[in-house]
Amino acid sequence: MIEIIKTTPYTDQKMGTAGLRKKSKVVMQEHYFENFLQSIFNVIAPEGKTFVIGGDGRFYNSIAIQKLIKMSAANGVKKLIVGKNGYLSTPASSNMILKNHTDGGFVLTASHNPGGENGDFGIKYATETGGQCSSQVSDKIFEQTKNITEFKILQCEDIKLDTLGSQKVGEMEVEIVDPITDYVKLMESIFDFDAIKKMFANGFTMRFDAMNAVTGPYAIEIFENVLGAAKGSVLNATPKQDFGGLHPDPNLVYAKELVDIMYGENAPDFGAANDGDGDRNMILGKKFFVTPSDSLAILTDNYALIPAYKGGIFGVAKSMATSTAVARVADAHKIGYYEVPTGWKYFVNLMDSKRITFCGEESFGTGSSHIREKDGIWAVLFWLNIIAATGKSVEEITTEHWQKYGRSYYLRFDFDGIPTDIANDLMKNLEEKLPSLNGQEMNGFKIKLAEVFTYNDPVDHSSTSNGMRILMEDGSRIVFRLSGTSSSGATLRVYLEKLERNKFDANPRDMVDELLKMAMNIAEIEKRTGKKQADVTT
Ligand code: G1P
Ligand code: ZN
Repeated sequence: MIEIIKTTPYTDQKMGTAGLRKKSKVVMQEHYFENFLQSIFNVIAPEGKTFVIGGDGRFYNSIAIQKLIKMSAANGVKKLIVGKNGYLSTPASSNMILKNHTDGGFVLTASHNPGGENGDFGIKYATETGGQCSSQVSDKIFEQTKNITEFKILQCEDIKLDTLGSQKVGEMEVEIVDPITDYVKLMESIFDFDAIKKMFANGFTMRFDAMNAVTGPYAIEIFENVLGAAKGSVLNATPKQDFGGLHPDPNLVYAKELVDIMYGENAPDFGAANDGDGDRNMILGKKFFVTPSDSLAILTDNYALIPAYKGGIFGVAKSMATSTAVARVADAHKIGYYEVPTGWKYFVNLMDSKRITFCGEESFGTGSSHIREKDGIWAVLFWLNIIAATGKSVEEITTEHWQKYGRSYYLRFDFDGIPTDIANDLMKNLEEKLPSLNGQEMNGFKIKLAEVFTYNDPVDHSSTSNGMRILMEDGSRIVFRLSGTSSSGATLRVYLEKLERNKFDANPRDMVDELLKMAMNIAEIEKRTGKKQADVTT
C-alpha cells in the first residue's frame, strides 16, 4: 500500500560540489532523507523511469537504500537496477547508467569523508548523462526541499538485496546485479590487459589500498584475479560501515599504511589508493608521489600507449584550481583545453559534445569520457599500462615529463572549520581587493592578473563563478575558494603553484613558501580566522 506521509521541510538541503553531504546524524533525523528524495522526484518526474542505485556501504547505506527503493515504488518508478547488497562504486554506477541507457541513478555516499554514526553521509543524483545533475537542476530541487509537505512511500517488508535477479516491489521491478562484471569488461575494453598481465608475471609488484571502502572487491577481481598481481596486493579490501575508522581519502596523510609501505624498505614497484566510493585515486612509486595535477598531464601526454585512445583524443579539461601542467601538454599536442569550476559535473557537457576525452582535478580525481564520473581504478590501470608499455618506473616517467614540460610545484592548503560568516567575509574582502592587486610586485612575484574565475559553458551557455585566482608573470598562481563539500562550517582552500623549468628535485613546501606568505597576507587569513597555518596540506 502506498502511503502519503505529512512532513515539514528542512532548510539545509542544498547540494554542494558533489550532491548532498551531511553528518550522518543530520541525515538520520526524521524524514530528512525522505524529504530530500521526494524533492528530487518532484522535480524530475520519475514515473515510468529506470534508475541505477547503490552506495559505498557506509553506515546508514542499508537503511537509506530501503527507503530509496520503497519511495521509488510509490512514486511510479518502473525499474531499479541495484548493486548487490546495495553496494556500487561511483564509476560503476555511471557505467551502468550509460550501458543500460537508464534515466539516471543515485549513489549513497559522502565520497572520501569518514563514515559511521559520527561521520558523514551523502546522496549523489545523476541524470541520464551518467554524470551528476547540473546546478540549474539542483537549484530547483533545493527550492522543493524548502516547501515540501508530504512524501510517498510503499509500505512493505525490507527488500533482500543479496540475491542476483529480478523481483517485484509493488508495481516496480527491482533487478539486483553484480556491478563488478560490467566494470571489469569496460576496463578490459580500454587497456592492454595482456601487457599488464605479462608485467605481473615477470615479477612486477604493487599495493592497492582500498581503505576499507567500496573498491576492495573490484580491485581484488581486476588486479589479483584477472591481471595476476600477487595475492595480498590489495590492502583493506573488505568494505566496512565505518571504513575501519579510516578517513577514506587517498592522499599522503590519510592513506598512511600505503605510504609507509611505499616509503619503506623493499617497497613494491607501484602503489595506489582509492577513496570511499572509488572515484578518487592516488599514485605512488617507490618513495615517490605523483601529484594528481601531474598525473593528469602525464596520462594525457601518453594517451597513444593505450589501446582505446591510440587513434587520437579530443581535448582535455581541468578544474581551474588544478595545476597548469596539463595545459602545457595540451598545447604541445595541439588539442582542445578547458578550465572549469571545481566539480565533476562541469566536465559532462564537454565530454558529451566531444570537446574532451580526459579530465581531472587536483583533488585526486582523474577520468575520461568512458563514463561521466572520475574513476579511481581507471587511473591506476592507465598508469600500469604506461609502465607496461614503456618499462619505466613511476619516478622515471614523472621526471622525464618534468624535463620536457617543466614542473609545477603544487600544494593545497585547507583551513577547516571556519565559521561560515567569517569565511564569507574573508572572500568578500578578497574580491574587493582584487582590482588593486593587478600589476603589483609582491614576495618576488609580479602579478599579471587577479580576478574572480568565471566559466561560461560552451554547450548550455550557463555561467558559473567559482573562486578567485592571482596569476603571476612567471606562470605561478594562487587560487582561493571555499569548499562546497564541508558537512559543517566552512573550509577555505588555498591552492599554490610555482612553475619551474629547470629545477626538479626541490621540496614542494619550500618552493611555494613565498606564495603562501603572499596568500596569507592578501586574504588576511590569520587576522580573520585566527589560524597561523593550514589544518591539512595535500
Ligand atoms: C572537493 C574537491 C573537488 C571534488 C569534490 C568532490 O570539493 O575539491 O575537486 O570535485 O570534492 O569529490 P570542494 O570541497 O573543494 O568543493
Ligand atoms: Zn569520491
